[in-house]
Amino acid sequence: LEISPFIASLPKVELHIHIEGTLSPALRWKLAHRNNIPIPYKTYPELLDSYKITYNHRREVNGDNGAPTFLETYFAGCQVLCTEDDFYELAMDYFRKASEMNVRYVEPFFDIQAHTKRGVAAEAVLDGFLRAQRDGAKVYGVRSNWIFCFLRDESLESGLEAYRTARPWGRTNDGKGKGLFHAVGLASNEYDRPPLLFEEGFRLAKEDGLHVTMHCDVDQKDAVDHVHEAIFKVCAGQGSERIDHGLNAIDRPDLIEGLKERNIGLTLCPHAYHRRQATETLFPKIRKLWDEGVKICINSDDPTYMHNVWIDGNMMKVYEYCRFSKGDMIRLVRNAVEMSWADNEVKKEIL
Ligand code: ADE
Ligand code: ZN
Repeated sequence: LEISPFIASLPKVELHIHIEGTLSPALRWKLAHRNNIPIPYKTYPELLDSYKITYNHRREVNGDNGAPTFLETYFAGCQVLCTEDDFYELAMDYFRKASEMNVRYVEPFFDIQAHTKRGVAAEAVLDGFLRAQRDGAKVYGVRSNWIFCFLRDESLESGLEAYRTARPWGRTNDGKGKGLFHAVGLASNEYDRPPLLFEEGFRLAKEDGLHVTMHCDVDQKDAVDHVHEAIFKVCAGQGSERIDHGLNAIDRPDLIEGLKERNIGLTLCPHAYHRRQATETLFPKIRKLWDEGVKICINSDDPTYMHNVWIDGNMMKVYEYCRFSKGDMIRLVRNAVEMSWADNEVKKEIL
């Protein structure tokens, strides 16, 4: 689907993108050599070919046929990221790409546990991103507030330890933080890992004045139950402020009502679902959420691992397949601004 001039020129806001999911094959190749990290591809074209495969998120879909899952390939990519400069370059590459697409403001996720568990110092990750946060705004005009993710397939204790380590880089309400991240999220493999397992992490973050979101990915085992927890249960029933994905809410009227009543928006990533669902199945669901009055916005998730479809390609898909008007597309960007956790003065300046 070719990006139309209207979609290309639309100012954009991205609220669901994993910074590690923007690692380009070119940067991965360069860092593998710079850091002496072995990668299982002998040539650059072989590495490129590996990005054409659509990996499964759920091993049980195919049975264990030995093929890696999507997340295994994503974390394999992370292995080349070692130094503060690597994390800086990763993020600056993304900010450059974002500015080319007219993205004005972003809230990128980062997975610090994926790096510390390989022996990378937390400071390298956080200082690299902090420097990129400042330079991305200065050099490319892309402002950002970042989101610390708990890896939900790791233990709660590991997540809490990572949070305590990263906390000085957060925009905490004691006024002492460095201001890199202003929210926490929940990512990685959600099989048998419902949001409530991480309630203590969310509670700590809320006490620190941070915002809270969580992934409830599409068609995972117990997807509907996870959405229910995210809306009604997490943090003493106050719920999540946003839900990442959450498309399965469409299957139950009580979830649709809960989202609307509590004004919880969904950060949708259409191409991520389109890899698995037919056009005629998927886009009517997105259209129905919209028609029901659920607040949604359009995002890209892990663009380099998802056939290089970025936010502009994702917006193009809903423009075309949901038959949204130009006014609807502008409304979707406005939704993203409203759902964002930018300061009010910044919100006024984004569009
Ligand atoms: N972390 C990074 N990308 C992810 C995805 N697509 N699903 C769940 N966790 C992720
Ligand atoms: Zn995601």
